[in-house]
Amino acid sequence: KKQLQVGILGFGTVGSGVLSILKHHENKISQVTGEELNVKKVLVRNTEKNRGALSEGIELTTDAAAILEDPEIDIVIEVMGSIEIAKDYITQALRAGKHVVTANKDLIALHGNELVALAKEYHCDLYYEASVAGGIPILRTIVDSLASDNIQKVFGIVNGTTNFMLSEMTNKNKTYEEALKKAQDLGFAESDPTNDVDGIDAARKMVILTRLAFGMNVELDQIETRGIRNVKLADIEMAKRLGYRIKLIGSAVGMNDSSVHVDVGPVLVPENHPLAGVQNENNAVFVVGAAVGETMFYGPGAGALPTATSVVSDVITVAKNIGLGTTGNVFNSYQHETTITEDKA
Ligand code: NDP
Ligand code: HSE
Repeated sequence: KKQLQVGILGFGTVGSGVLSILKHHENKISQVTGEELNVKKVLVRNTEKNRGALSEGIELTTDAAAILEDPEIDIVIEVMGSIEIAKDYITQALRAGKHVVTANKDLIALHGNELVALAKEYHCDLYYEASVAGGIPILRTIVDSLASDNIQKVFGIVNGTTNFMLSEMTNKNKTYEEALKKAQDLGFAESDPTNDVDGIDAARKMVILTRLAFGMNVELDQIETRGIRNVKLADIEMAKRLGYRIKLIGSAVGMNDSSVHVDVGPVLVPENHPLAGVQNENNAVFVVGAAVGETMFYGPGAGALPTATSVVSDVITVAKNIGLGTTGNVFNSYQHETTITEDKA
């Protein structure tokens, strides 16, 4: 069997989950792909930290060039976060002919089109399933399984941190601050949790979902975005008494005039609606198609192993494409002829 060399950029919550899955599911991965995957180097900021999960034989480096300029490395997994630095590293990787898998929704929402074009130009794969709804395979579902349908609506819970916080506040009477601290300790929150609590993370995921589901490019500032910062325990209690749960919902609704309206905000969900029952860091995405009707996809939206499952499945797809000699693949969506977005309400 051929051995494919892998470089991982970042070894935090997701990076350590990726290594764990590659190690523990090694036999299955090699059977499915027909290739062996070897993690050669891992990029971090601080080599002094305890990296208990790191196996011997893997080189830890603070020098990105050691990975990006290593001609032996076939696949780069970007799980470090940030926008500009990650964009620079992924650009370098693609230009060097390396295939890329990333979990970085901030980057893909803002620069996804440019990176996709670059990947195609250099005949490299670029996949990013983990960037939306963590362990739920929602992007593949939209671009492959529902490719035959005209999607009319995509909506649901796409941020694990805020759903975890609202669950803690609703079910355990925890304060906003206590709930946020716990979500951070569990590795669900972004390095800057403002992006979670103010709805920015969810809005970025809605940009990606809208691009793939509707073939339209929505800018972040076209999305009316509200987070949960102002949701008080008293609001949650009142909602409960009236038979509702407060959930942070992202929604993209196709309009008759070939535009799409996208927004993110806290919503009163009736307690008997399936979204009301989505607890903790779980996410749930409804996709409504003209032909299929209403579908719902549910599962963990954040956390090391669920997110890493999506990342490693993308890596498996890349390894298969390399084996078949059919690289240059991305999550293709059809491109709608217009890119009009409704004005903010
Ligand atoms: P962490 O903060 O846990 O880990 C980040 C890792 O990247 C650390 O190992 C850090 O090094 C390294 N790193 C960061 N910046 C640099 C840099 N400039 N140079 C070198 N190394 C760097 O983040 P997560 O694992 O939580 O998230 C990673 C990515 O995955 C983000 O894009 C995030 O949005 C996305 N994601 C996260 C999910 C989650 O549940 N956590 C779910 C889905 C997506 P060091 O260890 O030395 O600090
Ligand atoms: N911070 C993100 C969340 C991670 O809580 O949903 C998963 O994208």
